[in-house]
Amino acid sequence: MKNIKLSIDKAFGFVSAEKVAGYKAEVEAANAALHNGTGKGSDFLGWLNLPSSIDEAHLSDLEATAKLLREKCEVVVVIGIGGSYLGAKAVIDALSNSFDWLITDRKSPVVVYAGQNIGEDYLYELQELLKNKKFGIISISKSGTTTEPALAFRLLKTQLEEQQGKEAAKELIVAVTDKARGALRTLATQEGYKTYVIEDNIGGRYSVLSPVGLLPIAVAGFDIRQFVCGAVSMETQCGLSTSYEENVAGQYAAVRNELYKNGKKIEILVNFHPKLHFIGEWWKQLYGESEGKDNLGIYPASVDLTTDLHSMGQWIQEGERTIFETVISVNEPNFTKIFPNDKDNLDGLNFLAGKRVDEVNKMAELGTMIAHIDGGVPNLKIELPKLNEFYLGQLLYFFEKACGISGYLLGVNPFDQPGVEAYKKNMFALLEKPGYEAETKAIKARL
Ligand code: PA5
Repeated sequence: MKNIKLSIDKAFGFVSAEKVAGYKAEVEAANAALHNGTGKGSDFLGWLNLPSSIDEAHLSDLEATAKLLREKCEVVVVIGIGGSYLGAKAVIDALSNSFDWLITDRKSPVVVYAGQNIGEDYLYELQELLKNKKFGIISISKSGTTTEPALAFRLLKTQLEEQQGKEAAKELIVAVTDKARGALRTLATQEGYKTYVIEDNIGGRYSVLSPVGLLPIAVAGFDIRQFVCGAVSMETQCGLSTSYEENVAGQYAAVRNELYKNGKKIEILVNFHPKLHFIGEWWKQLYGESEGKDNLGIYPASVDLTTDLHSMGQWIQEGERTIFETVISVNEPNFTKIFPNDKDNLDGLNFLAGKRVDEVNKMAELGTMIAHIDGGVPNLKIELPKLNEFYLGQLLYFFEKACGISGYLLGVNPFDQPGVEAYKKNMFALLEKPGYEAETKAIKARL
């Protein structure tokens, strides 16, 4: 197996290579702080050695549960928000047929999502879709008390019980939650659902290699062994004994921090394959929640190219020069499509005849990179040899490790998210949740 590859040389017109090389001591110290548990947020380092700690029994158990849901369900609803759904969706989308939901001759259930919003139309339409369908539920919430997924779960559980009967419904519900605390754990214990534990020391955005990500990915029909294998290989490559010169996660952390210090306050994650859209969404949560605090942090944005070159392309090329981009490039697509010759050539495209569509895409990628560098946008690149489970495992663990190191370089705790609570408090006060009487009074006085 090859490895994903990081290239940072196209940032060196904007920040000096010597300065980036000079991060050696800091990066190695940050990496050691992660491994020795001496840095900020060290009680949330369960993700660090998670890939290599996954054993055969755990994988087999996940596969057996996935098989059951695959056999019994046409649709599986993954309920969760933030870190409790983004990793699964990112991987499933990246590996699925782009028109998956339209495929009738299916080997796997359609995976849909709920609890990631409170849109009434969304939930209404989902429940309409599920009427008379054989569906199952994977309900994921570490706290077990998050409003959005709890609300969706109550609705869908009720529907499932009405459609299947209470006893049969129990076989179609799996809960992934804390081992002891929270309403979802209480419910699961009372109802006798199959459950998986999210360990105390694994935060939501670092949980894709726990059952939070692995179970839905297996249900969708993908090889979680290869996914874990990829993550293990990256865990080894970026381990405690890896020097800065060999540590791709450390180098990515260093160069983005140096860019930030030089006024590049926004990082745009770029893809050239639409099925990678949710890798961008997952990555934004990982970096946004990990670094955006204490009035610090690179703002993580993402675009799908070439689509967004016809919308955000103008801004990227000529807007405020506070951005840099990180391109995820896939070396070899999974399928081949050759552009045909046309004898009339009315569209003038015969110069492309005989070329792969990917060659056109790659030239768009190269042309964009040169244009953006000329326009003052530093470019980092991460190459995936192919889009498969193994390299996605490498990529996601790479980003997690780099995020931990990067947060330490920035001086923040990359494992907490105190800012997420503010809206919840106001929402509960506005909804007059019991226990929030004083907050309700205070907030209503402000309206
Ligand atoms: O990364 C995080 O910790 C958050 O985004 C959570 O994943 C998200 O808020 C959902 O929390 P929970 O899994 O407790 O429902």
